[in-house]
Amino acid sequence: MTPGARHHDLPAFYRLVALDQVASTNDEALGLVAEGAGEGTLITARRQTAGRGRRGRTWQSDEGNLFLSLILKPKGGLGAAGAVGFTAALAIADAIACLMGHDAEISLKWPNDVLIGGRKASGLLIERAAGAVDDAFVLGVGINLVSHPHDTRYPATDLCAEGAGDVSVSMALQEFCSAFLRRYHGWQEDGFGPLREAWLARARGLGEKLSVEIEERRFDGVFRTIDETGALCLDLGPNGVKKVTAGDIYFHDSPGKHPC
Ligand code: BTN
Repeated sequence: MTPGARHHDLPAFYRLVALDQVASTNDEALGLVAEGAGEGTLITARRQTAGRGRRGRTWQSDEGNLFLSLILKPKGGLGAAGAVGFTAALAIADAIACLMGHDAEISLKWPNDVLIGGRKASGLLIERAAGAVDDAFVLGVGINLVSHPHDTRYPATDLCAEGAGDVSVSMALQEFCSAFLRRYHGWQEDGFGPLREAWLARARGLGEKLSVEIEERRFDGVFRTIDETGALCLDLGPNGVKKVTAGDIYFHDSPGKHPC
C-alpha cells in the first residue's frame, strides 16, 4: 500500500498525507506502517490534540506550528534510530537557518533538540513500529513557528519570537523535507562519522559543566563529546567518564524564559 500523494513542492521521496486535526501524527504514522505504508510516507496535521514528547511529556500543538511524522526504513534497521535522530536534528537546524534568514544563534542540545538563542524551538520523537513487516520507525518532528509553551522546565521559543517574520507551515515543511533528504542520504552513503562532526560543530555546552538527569538520578560533569554511537561522554573527574545513552541535560547557564 502506498498512501499519500506525490506533492510537487516536495522531493519525490515523500508521499504526503495532509490531515487537519489528529491526536498525534506519530499515531497516524504508526497506524499506516501497520497497513504497509512505505518509506517516505509523510503525515502532517494542522493541529494535534494529544501531541507526544519524549519521556511521556506532552507537546503543545497549536495551529500555526509544524507537526509531522515520517516513516523510515533505513539500512541498519532499528539499530539506526539513534543516527536518524542526529540526522533529523541537523536537518531541522539547516531548515531553521534558511527560514530565519539572518544570523540566528542556532545550536543543538543533546540528544536531538534544536535551540535558537539557547531556547528550545524544536524536538523530535522516534518510535519503533511494532509488528511491521520490515524494520520501520516513525520520526516525529515538531517545530515551533508562531507559538511556544511558557511552562516548560527547559525554556522554549518559536521562530516568530526570534524575529523570523512570517514563516508559514508549508515553507517550513519544504525546507525541512529538502534538508532532511540531503542529510539522510549523506548519512546512508558516508556513515555516522561526518554526521557526528557536523553535530558536534553545532553542539551547545561542549567542554562545559552540565547536569544529566537519568530517570531520578542526576550526574554533574563536563560534556566532552559524543562517541561513535551518539552517546554523550560526561567527564566525572576522578570518577571517570560516564557514557549516557538516554537522559535529559541541563546547562548551568540556561537562558531565561522568552519574554513574549
Ligand atoms: C520532544 O522534544 O519531547 C519531542 C517532541 C516531538 C513532537 C512531535 S510533533 C509531531 C509528532 N507527533 C507527536 O505526537 N509528537 C511528534
